[in-house]
Amino acid sequence: MPLKILDSTLREGEQTPGVCFNNHIKTAIADLLDEVGVDIIETGHPVVTEEIHESVREIAGRGLRAKVGAHARSVQNDVDVALECGVGFLGIFYCVSDSRLNHHEKKLSDVVEKITSIVSYARETQPNLIIRYTPEDTVRSEWHNVITAATEAVHAGANVISVADTTGFMIPGTDRSMYDYVARLKDKLAVNNCYPMIAVHCHNDRGLALANALDGYRAGAEIIDATVMGLGERAGLVDLATLLAVLKTDFNLENNWNLKLIPELYKLVSRFAGFEIPKLAPVTGQNAFTHCAGVHTQAALKNPLHYQSLDPALVGRESQLSLDHMSGLSAVKYALDKIGVNGLSETAIANILDKVKEIGQMGRVVDLDELKHIVNYLTKERNNNIEQQSQDWAFAFVDQTR
Ligand code: COA
Ligand code: ZN
Repeated sequence: MPLKILDSTLREGEQTPGVCFNNHIKTAIADLLDEVGVDIIETGHPVVTEEIHESVREIAGRGLRAKVGAHARSVQNDVDVALECGVGFLGIFYCVSDSRLNHHEKKLSDVVEKITSIVSYARETQPNLIIRYTPEDTVRSEWHNVITAATEAVHAGANVISVADTTGFMIPGTDRSMYDYVARLKDKLAVNNCYPMIAVHCHNDRGLALANALDGYRAGAEIIDATVMGLGERAGLVDLATLLAVLKTDFNLENNWNLKLIPELYKLVSRFAGFEIPKLAPVTGQNAFTHCAGVHTQAALKNPLHYQSLDPALVGRESQLSLDHMSGLSAVKYALDKIGVNGLSETAIANILDKVKEIGQMGRVVDLDELKHIVNYLTKERNNNIEQQSQDWAFAFVDQTR
């Protein structure tokens, strides 16, 4: 089933408290996203600030392969300002839950009228525009309200209906399943003679954003929203790198994604968002492909697949190991070989392992530089003919077949 990836790092990502990219950084992020191969780049909500307005216009005029998108409330001025930037994709949102309607003392029919007039206006102003309508907080809104608003929006010219799990409420396999929601929505819209693309916008409040997005995809969603590092409101959104790695590895999709650029993209976004990539983050974290425990490293040195189900080469990385109190003799021997120390007695190697464990118990990892000092110290040699090696701990990915 064809699937489009919408990246919202520049729009939803900037809704992360404290995150604001300069426009030259936004352009660099958009260029990299385009090279990675995402289909839609949501660049911002232009009425929010003059800087965002300028950046949306700049990126829209860059001739990227991806569709460049902007965000708008159901307000004509928001649409005018966005379209004036030259975007090819416009996301228009309005929440239709009873609680929000009551809060604003509005009737569903009035709000639907507002949504349809704005969608028709955008459609008439720019006939080739891809228009997405999002009933915010879709999954907690009354079914009837969502169906009414989505049906009318499609009749008015919307091509995409976004199922927004705005609060990260859905749980796979329960009566709050994104799979069931998307399947039901498609069926019901088809009954109403509406066949929009369905997008899924899944927040991560319960840590289930990716699982819910994949659930939505399996039920027929054609667009998945994601951001670099999962940036976004509260606990953020689906993490782009993990999503692409899983889709590429496990879903047999036709694609032209260049995931080798992911580390560069993440470095850029992390630096200018001011957020470190968590060490344990899947795919992009420092530890994502690092083996530690002796039993693991011993087996992984023979074949990394014994303890890895994702190929680090997918994102231009390599398997690594670390030395600490969990290490065993195999890891130490491998590391000694890496620094060119061969021919030590088994006793000497055991002593080195003891020292490594002692340091590990202090909560530190022994790197190759420190290992050299340990060897020199314990063997009472000054230089031991140790070769200068980089800190690269990588070992070959010996067998990629399954
Ligand atoms: N369609 C139409 N109007 C909407 C709306 C929607 N989907 N969502 C909210 N609004 C209205 C609210 O009712 C409120 O207007 P009111 O005070 O007349 O009732 C207004 O938009 C939002 O309130 P507030 O932020 O106080 O208004 P503002 O005029 O100072 O600023 C923005 C409006 C959009 C410029 C400002 O909220 C902003 O910079 N937002 C950042 C982007 C954002 O909120 N994005 C949400 C993405 S899901
Ligand atoms: Zn969101």
